[in-house]
Amino acid sequence: MVIRKLSTLLVPCALAISAVILFSDLAQTTSKNADWQHLKDGRDVFLAACAACHGMDGAGNKQSSVAFETELPDFTDCNFTSREPAADWYQIARIGGPVRGFDPMMPAFGEALTPEQLESSITHIKSFCADDKWPDGVFNLPKALVTGKAYPEDEYMFLFSFTPGGLTEFQGKFVTEKRLGARHQLELAAPFVVKQIMREGSDESAWGEGVGDIALGYKLNLLASIRSLTIISLSTEVLLPTGDEYDEIGKGYFRFEPFITMGQIIPHVGFLQLQAGAELSTRPEKGAHELFWRGTYGQSFSKDGYGRTWSPMVEILGARELEDDANVEWHVVPEVQVTLNQRQHIMFCMGAKIPLTDFDSGDIQYMAYLLWDWFDGGFTEGW
Ligand code: HEC
Repeated sequence: MVIRKLSTLLVPCALAISAVILFSDLAQTTSKNADWQHLKDGRDVFLAACAACHGMDGAGNKQSSVAFETELPDFTDCNFTSREPAADWYQIARIGGPVRGFDPMMPAFGEALTPEQLESSITHIKSFCADDKWPDGVFNLPKALVTGKAYPEDEYMFLFSFTPGGLTEFQGKFVTEKRLGARHQLELAAPFVVKQIMREGSDESAWGEGVGDIALGYKLNLLASIRSLTIISLSTEVLLPTGDEYDEIGKGYFRFEPFITMGQIIPHVGFLQLQAGAELSTRPEKGAHELFWRGTYGQSFSKDGYGRTWSPMVEILGARELEDDANVEWHVVPEVQVTLNQRQHIMFCMGAKIPLTDFDSGDIQYMAYLLWDWFDGGFTEGW
């Protein structure tokens, strides 16, 4: 009787202790003790080196069957697996979880597995999401200050701009983007403006301030081809007349903005992001329709392929009102984006929008944003 009682206590204890030893061993010494040299196929590498924690089916073992607290990711969830570029995951598997601000329970396999084996295990992990309508995370290119992105995303952004010019203007804009399923995204952009204005009939400037024209947007991803490294989306935005017209903070009428965005990755050369569309006025007698087109070229650099990422970019912006005597306005925007934390999901970008037509140095607009890709973690996580 006593022995039975004892064994009901001892067996789970012994199991728990051996599990702790096994998993801390796996977490710390996979780099030395494993002999997986003969494995070639990604599935075999995964089963030998990864499945003890990540589960044979990639869904992640329950905490009850691994001896640590950290929750394991579910690689069968396309909403998660499609977003992460294989190159980032390769570095996590090579150097270990902490390289991207993850738990040290995710071991480093750089010594135990060859680069080819690591690559094939990541390809296998990515294949747990079999549904190809989810655009891959490689298309989540650095956001330019003005040109829109084609990738549907989950993020918060605070954009700040300052135009010192003849009439000073400050603008803060809060943008939230929420992805819905594989290919849809909603957006809300709320600007707050403080600006110097010249009222008619007065020769002294006054200050206007307030919430500007709020925009609501919808984006539909049409194509994301890994073969040609191209992503294309269609978007439409409605600009609401929420800004005060008298203070020149808003335009005072509804506008609709349909546009197309495209991203093209050119291996070893960088990336292009293109956008073209129209701003359609509902009160043509107050403001004309306008066409716009924007192009960004940039390239990302990170030390050894995993450190802080710097992305210098340059944008060329063109716009023309649809009126007979209107001129084309051109701007150039040199800028640089940098990731701030280890997880690399918090970014900062800074640049200047410089007029190329009617150049007046006072009209240069200085711009900066702080961007938080919140799907990848909380604001304070992964530093
Ligand atoms: C000892 C257990 C363990 C083993 C073995 C293991 N992992 Fe992990 N892995 C984890 C844990 C725990 C996490 C989650 C870390 C976190 O969320 O902070 C993780 C996370 C990851 C991630 C990051 C996912 C994300 O959130 O972006 C990748 C990629 C990954 N593992 C790949 C692998 C590969 C490939 C192998 C085999 C070569 C492997 N893991 C073996 C425990 C393990």
